[in-house]
Order: sequence, then C-alpha cells, then structure tokens
Amino acid sequence: MFWKSSNQKSPLPSSQTEFSYLSLQDHYFDTACQTLRPQSVIDAECAYYTQNNACGGRSSYQWAKMVDQRISLVRRSFLDVLGLSTRDYVTFFGLNTTQSINTLLWALPWDEYDTIITSDIEHNSVFLPVMKVAQKLSKRRHILERDEQGALLYEKTQLTNAVIIINTTSNIDGRELLNREQLIQDAHAEGGVVILDACQTLGHNPQMLSKTQADAILGSGHKMYGPSLGIGAIRRSLAEKLDPLTIGGGTVSGVSEHRYTLLSGDDLPLRLEAGLQQWAGIWAMKETLEFLKQADWHQERAFATQVHKLLQKSGATVLSQPYSSVQTCYFPHLESSLVGDLLAKKNIMVRTGYFCCHYYLTEKHPLPHLVRISLGQHTQDSDIEALEKSLQTIQALR
Ligand SMILES: Cc1ncc(COP(=O)(O)O)c(C=O)c1O
Repeated sequence: MFWKSSNQKSPLPSSQTEFSYLSLQDHYFDTACQTLRPQSVIDAECAYYTQNNACGGRSSYQWAKMVDQRISLVRRSFLDVLGLSTRDYVTFFGLNTTQSINTLLWALPWDEYDTIITSDIEHNSVFLPVMKVAQKLSKRRHILERDEQGALLYEKTQLTNAVIIINTTSNIDGRELLNREQLIQDAHAEGGVVILDACQTLGHNPQMLSKTQADAILGSGHKMYGPSLGIGAIRRSLAEKLDPLTIGGGTVSGVSEHRYTLLSGDDLPLRLEAGLQQWAGIWAMKETLEFLKQADWHQERAFATQVHKLLQKSGATVLSQPYSSVQTCYFPHLESSLVGDLLAKKNIMVRTGYFCCHYYLTEKHPLPHLVRISLGQHTQDSDIEALEKSLQTIQALR
C-alpha cells in the first residue's frame, strides 16, 4: 500500500501548491458535495483536450493509443487505492455514483436474490433506487438502522439471498460503516452481495476501504479531487452476470438481427460503459489518484476536530463525531439557512438543508434544517480562523 504516514510531510503541503488558485478570502467548506480540483487535475484535463483528444477503445492512431494506455492505468490505479487485485475486480466509469447505483441495481441477476437491504441514513441516490427496484421487481425491502458510530444493526438471517447497498460514510454526519467487513462476510455466507456507496469515503478516508471484500465499491470523481465522473470497482464474477439495461456503442462484441453478445474477458467493464465516455475526466483521474497518495488525512482530521470544538463552543448542537471531515449541526436560536447566509457574506461556503437524505431527517429522526461544514485537503488555518470569527457573530445573536 502507498498511503503516506501521518508524520511524513512533503516539503510543501499540497494545499499550498495544488490549490494556490484560491484567494485568502475563499473559505470552501462544501467538499461533501464536491471537493476542489487540484491544479494538476485541472491541467491534465486541459492537456487531454489540447494534446490527446481521442476516443478510447476504438482507434489505433497515436492519440488514441495514449488514451487507451491511460484508461488502463487509471483502472489499475483505482484498484490499487482499494488494495484490490485486477485478477478479482475490474474498474468501470460512468456519470456519477447515482448512475452507477442505478446501472448495477437494474443489471443484477435478480433471480438469485429475493430481498434488497439498505440503511436508514442513506442518500436519496441509494434510498430511491432501492425503493423502486423493490416495487418494480416485487422484492422484499428492509431498511435497517445504524448505531451512533455508523455500524449496521442486523441479524445474519436477514441477509439471506439479499442485495445489500449501503454507504461507507454518511453525508449527513460522517458516520462510518464500522462493521463493514463482518457484514460482507455474513452476507456472502448467506448468499447475498454487498454494494458499497463509498463516495464520501474515497475523498476523506480512502485507506479505510483497503482490501474490502465488497462486491462493488462506487464513487464519484468530483467527491475525491477528480473530474466529474463516476468510478466503481466490481468483482469480475459479479460483472460477468450483469445484464445492463443501458446498452449501445462499445458494450458488445457482436450483433445479429435479433441477438447481441456483451463484451467479456479483458473488456468486461465496457459492458457498463455504453457510448462515448468522459475521456478528459478519465485521463485526469490519473492525477487524482496520485494526489490521493500524497493527501494528509491526519491534518484534515485535526482541522475537523477544531471545527467540532468551535461549533460546540458557539452553542450549536453537533451531530458528527469530533474527527469527521463532515461536521453537521444546527443552532437552536437561528434557522440554518440564515446561518448559511451569514457565513456566505464572509465567503464561508457551507451547505444547509437535508442534503438529499429526506427519509432519515424528516421522518425517521426529524430534525430542523442542518448546517454542514465539510473539510478537505485545501483547508488551512486561515479558513478555520475565518469560521471562528463568524461563529462568534452567530453566537452573539442569541
Ligand atoms: C453518501 C452519498 N451517496 C451518493 C451521493 C450521490 O453522488 P453523485 O451526486 O455524485 O451521484 C452523494 C452525493 O452527495 C452522497 O453524499
């Protein structure tokens, strides 16, 4: 594994080189929506357009060959990040995590499964496709609870012949799926499969996923310092059984009047990638995966702890664990959208509302609108200082 140890510092912190385009007045705290893009990623995306503007998998001229090589490298490097082997898994691309979830759920061999399981703190991008699949295919649906730390509460027998789809880090409050590998082991023993919505983990704590035995791991480039695209890893044995609803150019090895043959073998991931892909983004993902190797997660967590304490000091009810990069709260004396507006006046960019998690936050565990402050690799002391000042103003409004 290549993770940088917490006490090993590069000569210049990446925040000073990769995000030097930020002005001292910009305080971006919305990484749970989108991380900022490192300069190296932006440059790579431009370089694709000016120096390699070719399509993948279809031509043999020099630019096209370069694109093919780069795509293969990115597929391998993504599996490296997850500590997975190319023997057992393949990487596929798409639009975003939402699309990957929908693509997989509708492509699964449903004659092998009779139940679909998710948790109560899921993003609508998981919750809604699960609801729709259960309704359309007449499958049982279970919505299980998570404990305060994020572990899923389940009985082993509930996992029999089940498709389990669940986030590894909640975008509500940063809770992590602490019993993930036990869940996967139990699900496999019961004939189930586990699909991980890992999009909030890959940009904040990717080493947590190392060597996972999940059947699919899904993420979004835009939440992990990359271009806007979907990226996922899937077990070869499961990918071979998929029959995607979306098919078209690039997904088949042969077509006759009434039949077609989906790609397989080395081309297996292509059956999930209908039509031309976001080549510039895939090209630039190489830089993203390099960037992740250099990231200082220890520093990010230290800043998160500072924000947690500042929020508590300013009278907020804080939902997140102290170390989480996603710090979510509400102020008993001030509506969250007003808090967001006050912070915005100082160019402090946060998210307010229910973050596309309506079921949990309006029905299961009703709460007022929330304020979410999410940190990243670009976060600096000056951001925390600006936030502290504004929180003092908010506290004084009591
Ligand atoms: C936990 C979680 N899952 C899924 C999604 C959907 O991601 P995307 O919009 O990239 O498809 C989000 C987006 O915020 C999320 O936080």
